Amino acid sequence: MIPISKPFIGEEEKAGVLAVLESGMLAQGKKVAALEEAFAAICGTKHAVATSSGTTALHLALLANGIGEGDEVITTAFTFIATVTSILFTGAKPVFVDIDPETFNLNPALIEQAVTPRTKSILPVHLYGQVCEMEAIQKVADAHGLTIIEDAAQAVGATRHGKKAGSFGTGCFSLYATKNIMSAEGGMVTTDDDAIAEKVRMLHNQGMKRRYYHDMLGYNFRMTDLHAAIGLAQVNRLDDFTAKRRANAEYLSAHIKNVITPQVMPGNKHVWHQYTIRIPDKNRDAAVKQLNDAGIGTGIFYPVPVHRQQFVRQIVGDVSLPVTEKLANEVISLPVHPQLSAQDLEKIAAEANKL
Ligand SMILES: Cc1ncc(COP(=O)(O)O)c(C=O)c1O
Repeated sequence: MIPISKPFIGEEEKAGVLAVLESGMLAQGKKVAALEEAFAAICGTKHAVATSSGTTALHLALLANGIGEGDEVITTAFTFIATVTSILFTGAKPVFVDIDPETFNLNPALIEQAVTPRTKSILPVHLYGQVCEMEAIQKVADAHGLTIIEDAAQAVGATRHGKKAGSFGTGCFSLYATKNIMSAEGGMVTTDDDAIAEKVRMLHNQGMKRRYYHDMLGYNFRMTDLHAAIGLAQVNRLDDFTAKRRANAEYLSAHIKNVITPQVMPGNKHVWHQYTIRIPDKNRDAAVKQLNDAGIGTGIFYPVPVHRQQFVRQIVGDVSLPVTEKLANEVISLPVHPQLSAQDLEKIAAEANKL
């Protein structure tokens, strides 16, 4: 089976972890600081603060932006659950806006009508590795005095008009094992704002600046040096990994003929966390089976949109998002990861052409 994802673990990752183990300093230390510096450089931001996961990065970014009880955050339901649970953890309410069928991302034309006096933030998700239409989103945010918190979990290194994912507002990344670069588990918050960075730093470490003096209610959402050692080795591979993902996606788009293939918006550099085709609803399950039977791994991201998850529905009620609901029944992600061989790509395209 050609897997849908395959984490790369090389000699540098192993040596990095071993060096941390041998140093005896296992918790947060120099490796985390080095990874934060490298990550800020990747995103072109002044600060990056490492966290224990993408979920905790989102949670802290929201808290640091002052989101809490009674506030509303506009976001997409066509995403991983953590985008929305992080809003709920703060006591705020997610307000869902439908997506653009071409990009799978928030449809900016629908955002303004979702703004209420309680709206505090817009939380766009750069799904599958493609940055949202940030200039349009920024316009609405500016008009209503809203902050922007980006879920860039899948989009490290992606750009829109040359500007990096994670640099448009407060950026949130995941370094989970299957992401474009990873640290097994981990996350990152990026920002140019000194006050936000300081708040995230305090919140992720028990609300303290000075050891054992706790200025606010905080968490233990720190990354360890063991995880950072893996992440640091991966950072050096990012350009190579991204180039391979891009070449793989270009090959698939050039060779897959009979189904809807993913589009890249003008001005965007996609980093292809997922390569996602669309198959008419009634044929999707059979198509997945056919691909799997032929040895092609697949992923459905995501079969149940967040507003249709049972516990979310109890909170937000019966929301109608026609494009989100349609696409949730149509998407199939195919392998696009950097470890695919030329033969793998040929086989994926050939099997997709039999659908
Ligand atoms: C869009 C999106 N948001 C948030 C997350 C949460 O990240 P993590 O799994 O590192 O907590 C992920 C990844 O799993 C994701 O894909």
